[in-house]
Amino acid sequence: MTPNQNFHMAYMDTCGPQTMLLIHGFPLNNGIWAPQYDDLYDMARIIGPDLPGHGASDTPAGSISLALMAQQCADLLDNLGITEPVVICGLSMGGYIAFEFVKQFPQRVKGLILTATRALPDSDTAKSGRNAAVSKIKKKGLETFNREMLPKLFSPASLDNNEELVGFVFDILNQTSPEGAINALQAMKERPDSTPILEKISVPTLIIHGEDDQIIPVDEVMEMQSQIPGSNLYILENAGHLPNMEQSDVFNGLVAEFLADLMEMDE
Ligand code: MLT
Repeated sequence: MTPNQNFHMAYMDTCGPQTMLLIHGFPLNNGIWAPQYDDLYDMARIIGPDLPGHGASDTPAGSISLALMAQQCADLLDNLGITEPVVICGLSMGGYIAFEFVKQFPQRVKGLILTATRALPDSDTAKSGRNAAVSKIKKKGLETFNREMLPKLFSPASLDNNEELVGFVFDILNQTSPEGAINALQAMKERPDSTPILEKISVPTLIIHGEDDQIIPVDEVMEMQSQIPGSNLYILENAGHLPNMEQSDVFNGLVAEFLADLMEMDE
């Protein structure tokens, strides 16, 4: 835990030759990156914060924006004395925050990994869905909400064959505080459109998406990729909204190659 302006932010930190900041999605926490800590430890120093209200981080009172969460990630890097540019990897809401990080701190970004995410803001329908989700959490509790959300996170293959992974993720979902989940839903609802910055992204960008993602359709990601100069998109079979966990070997292989290329560029 590190004091991060007005709250304590929990984080995971490893050793390695270049720094990679992994930003989790909603309503998850840094536990989702377990396969990356395990396999990529020799390629990068991996820093995985728990976003406010998620995992072991404090839940600050009042509303919060994704831009502020990006600032909190930068504060964490500052607290750890990391001043050199880092690789930012964001999954879903973590990707929305990665875009906010790029907008605020372009000089701190060495490379970008976008997974299971989108640049577009919420549609009116999606905003209504956020309101309904907030009401459900308030009326029925977060665990009921999580139980309904759980199957939407996975491909049919994971749901049918990987009970252990599904149970592991359910435990992670239940570590979020109800206030933290509500604040994140509001923040996602109010997030700005990030498509205007796509054509200005000048760092190497890797995009990884699950073919069976039920939350963010593949077509939308293909459109996003076409707007980021020089980016590469990989669509993973038998993966839903959590490709880093559902197809961790393929995911880690792509990330390892990306990190190796970045290291070569440094030499
Ligand atoms: C996430 O996984 O972070 C969220 O499902 C993204 C969203 O609801 O837009």
